[in-house]
Amino acid sequence: MTQTRGKGAKIITLANQKGGVGKTTSTVNLATAVAMLGKKTLIVDSDPQGNASSGVGMAVSQKSKHLYHCYIDPDKTRGVIKPSASVGNLWILPTCIDLIGVEVELMGEKKRETFLDRVLSQIAEDYDYIFVDCPPSLGLLTLNALTAADSVIIPMQCEYFALEGLSQLVRTIKLVKNSYNPRLVIEGLLLTMYDRRNKLTYQVAKEVKKHFGNKVYHTVIPRNVRLSECPSHGKSVIEYDSSSAGALSYMNLGKEFLKNQEAEQTGGVHDE
Ligand SMILES: Nc1ncnc2c1ncn2[C@@H]1O[C@H](COP(=O)(O)OP(=O)(O)OP(=O)(O)O)[C@@H](O)[C@H]1O
Ligand SMILES: [Mg+2]
Repeated sequence: MTQTRGKGAKIITLANQKGGVGKTTSTVNLATAVAMLGKKTLIVDSDPQGNASSGVGMAVSQKSKHLYHCYIDPDKTRGVIKPSASVGNLWILPTCIDLIGVEVELMGEKKRETFLDRVLSQIAEDYDYIFVDCPPSLGLLTLNALTAADSVIIPMQCEYFALEGLSQLVRTIKLVKNSYNPRLVIEGLLLTMYDRRNKLTYQVAKEVKKHFGNKVYHTVIPRNVRLSECPSHGKSVIEYDSSSAGALSYMNLGKEFLKNQEAEQTGGVHDE
């Protein structure tokens, strides 16, 4: 069985050091789907770009409290979390550009990889699932997100250099597991911006499945214009256009994700 922290939410980090592969889009839309499917869900925006915060209509200014303040004072975390204005069961721990300070300020600290774990330990019992969005790097913010997590979802685009980046990411995950967080497992690999007509997409997908087997989600996310439009409206695609291919695929992913959780709890095939 997968080890979990025992009390409260399962924490899932979405990570890939490659930029623009669909980490934020997948965090926002998978979390929304899981919330709509009845689970108490929190999005943690651990990327100073703040795209997950603005993507759910919760952009914060430098004057308001956000994740950076939780790093400084974990006891205040509950007060920083906001409910989604439009989706029941969904909350957000927002961020803004100030979070970038964490990368420098933690450098000289002892146990600098455990700060987010301390933040999320404060509030994990309030939720069923917590999804953490990461920046496109393997710096301290991502290290903290991997150390705090029970599992990691790797969104990836099926393109030529994707596999190269993937082996570096898998090495980092193993390192975090061995050094800081024995609970950590790969939850799943998610193929994003999938184009069925493209031969390279097919070849990369085949290669990924060869290496990762049943860790690759059956659900793939197609390239869909609605997915690129919805962030500017501060909405998930499921609210923005529920009948779009993007919305349907993220709802399917939510169902597949929850089915895997059930299988895991009953000792099913999804475990490593
Ligand atoms: N399936 C899709 N179809 C079309 N556009 C998409 C899809 N997924 C994401 N996008 C768009 O591609 C861009 C990159 O996506 P996203 O921001 O989710 O990637 P990211 O990995 O979080 O990027 P970063 O590394 O900068 O944080 C965004 O403009 C997003 O709206
Ligand atoms: Mg992002």
